[in-house]
Amino acid sequence: MITVLGSVNLDQIGTVTRLPAPGETVAGGTFSVAQGGKGANQALAARRAGAAVRMVGAVGEDAFAEVALRLLTSDGVDLSDVARVPGATGIAMIFVDEKGENVIAILPGANAAVDEAAAMRALGAMARGDILLLQQEIPQPATARALALARQSGVVSILNTAPFLPDTAALAEEADIVIANETEFALLMGKAGGQGDAGDLDSQMEAWANRTGRTIIVTLGGEGARSFGPDGRLVAAALPITPLDTVGAGDTFCGYLAAGLDAGLTLKDAMARATIAASLACLKPGAQPAIPYAGELAASIGSR
Ligand code: RIB
Ligand code: NA
Repeated sequence: MITVLGSVNLDQIGTVTRLPAPGETVAGGTFSVAQGGKGANQALAARRAGAAVRMVGAVGEDAFAEVALRLLTSDGVDLSDVARVPGATGIAMIFVDEKGENVIAILPGANAAVDEAAAMRALGAMARGDILLLQQEIPQPATARALALARQSGVVSILNTAPFLPDTAALAEEADIVIANETEFALLMGKAGGQGDAGDLDSQMEAWANRTGRTIIVTLGGEGARSFGPDGRLVAAALPITPLDTVGAGDTFCGYLAAGLDAGLTLKDAMARATIAASLACLKPGAQPAIPYAGELAASIGSR
C-alpha cells in the first residue's frame, strides 16, 4: 500500500512556438487543460503501475476540483483523505515550446492548506513497511512531520526534491530514499554536502549517501537514472525516444519506483521499470494523461 501526501493541480497549458520573454507578447499556439500536480501525478503513476494507492491532500471548493481529480478517480486511487477547503484548487500555468522546453508557475491554492494534521492523518492509517511518497508542493511543515512519523512507525519514506525549496536539503536527510534531478542534486550538495565538492556525479552521490546513510537516486532525462546507497551503485537506461512533452516524466519515475518497491522488486529492477515508464510519459502531451499503464511498459520492452 502506497500513500502519497502531496499536491493536486489542474494544469493550464499553452503550447507555443516560442516561450515569451518577460514583457513580451507571443501570439499563436494552442491551449489545453490536463490533470497535474506532483503529488497527484505520482499517485496516478503508482496506481497505473499496479499498486493500491491512497492520496492525502486538498482541493478547493471550485469547479476545477472535480476535473483535477478525474483521472485519479477513474483509475481507482483512494481519495477519501483529499480535503475540500475554501478557495481555489491548485493551478499550474505551463508553457511548452516546439522543442519541448517548458516554463511553469504554480499557484498553490488549496495545496497551501495541507498541514501537519494532514500528515498525521496520512501516517495514522499506515503500517510498518508501507510506502510514503512525498514531493515539495505542499507546506514543508507537513512534509517534515510526515517524515518524522514515518521514521517512528517503520514506514518507508521516499522524498522527491522537486520543486526545490529552502528546507529541502534538510528534509532529504530524513527520508529513506531521495529522488532528485541533476539540478536538484547540485542544490542538495550545495546546501548540505559542503561547497566545492570535487569529482563527478557518482562520487558526489556516494559522498551524500555515505554522509546521510540514505539512498540517493538522480534522474538524468535521456541518460536514465543512477543511484547510490546500501545497494551500492545502480544504473538504469532510458528508452531511446524523441521527447514530445517532458512535463510529468519525473513524477512518473517516482510513482513507478514506489510501486515497484511496494510489489517487492529490488531497487535495481524498480529503477529499470521507472526509467522506462518515464521515457514513455514523454511521448504524449500533459502530465497525467501521458502516464503509461504497466501493460504499455511490457509492450515497449517486448518490442525493443
Ligand atoms: O511535475 C509536473 C507538475 O508540476 C505539473 O503537473 C504541474 O502541476 C506542476 O506542479
Ligand atoms: Na508528458
